Amino acid sequence: MREHPNFQRLFVVDHPLVQHKLSLMRDKNRSTNGFRSLLREIALLMGYEITRDLPTELVEIETPVAPAQVPKLAGKKLAVVPILRAGLEMADGLIELVPSARIGHIGLFRDPVTKRPTEYFVKLPEAADGRLFVVVDPMLATGHSLAHATQILKKHGVPPSLIRVMALVAAPEGVRAFHAVHPEIPVYVASLDSHLDDHAYIVPGLGDAGDRLFGTK
Ligand code: URA
Repeated sequence: MREHPNFQRLFVVDHPLVQHKLSLMRDKNRSTNGFRSLLREIALLMGYEITRDLPTELVEIETPVAPAQVPKLAGKKLAVVPILRAGLEMADGLIELVPSARIGHIGLFRDPVTKRPTEYFVKLPEAADGRLFVVVDPMLATGHSLAHATQILKKHGVPPSLIRVMALVAAPEGVRAFHAVHPEIPVYVASLDSHLDDHAYIVPGLGDAGDRLFGTK
């Protein structure tokens, strides 16, 4: 994983397995089933990087051979917060990695008048005692939804130092827009693509992630 040379707090998970699986996902002929499995696998691999600095504490156990002090995750369980609906499948990969994680949900729609994201569903685990919150949405396009979801977490009482964003593919415009509002929040992606087109699709991107995940149009 490396911090992008032109964007502070943008981390690109450049592991060869992640890059290979993302390339398979971009192919327009990939099946719904294959697309979904690949996203879950990538989320798991990215989760390994994102959770690299989780605090641990020593606990006493007995192995079949001898007493031992061993490290276990310390503090409150991780919280995974997918933005509905495309975030759901990506969250599943992270939850596979950390099965004890708590799960929040944020549902947003674009207000037809203001054109801004507006929430229709928010349910979050308690913000307590060092719990890390990972907001998940595969496509960081305009950045508005992720910025709004992050604002919801801040209002919920989550300290900015305990918020991370995980996306699959980002557009430079979206990263700039997100960091204009939340400069301190680290963003983890598998790829920073070229740009947004006139319909706010990421280029080259992979199309509509929600439709490809759920087989809708
Ligand atoms: N949302 C998507 O699903 N794809 C894009 O390219 C942009 C936003």
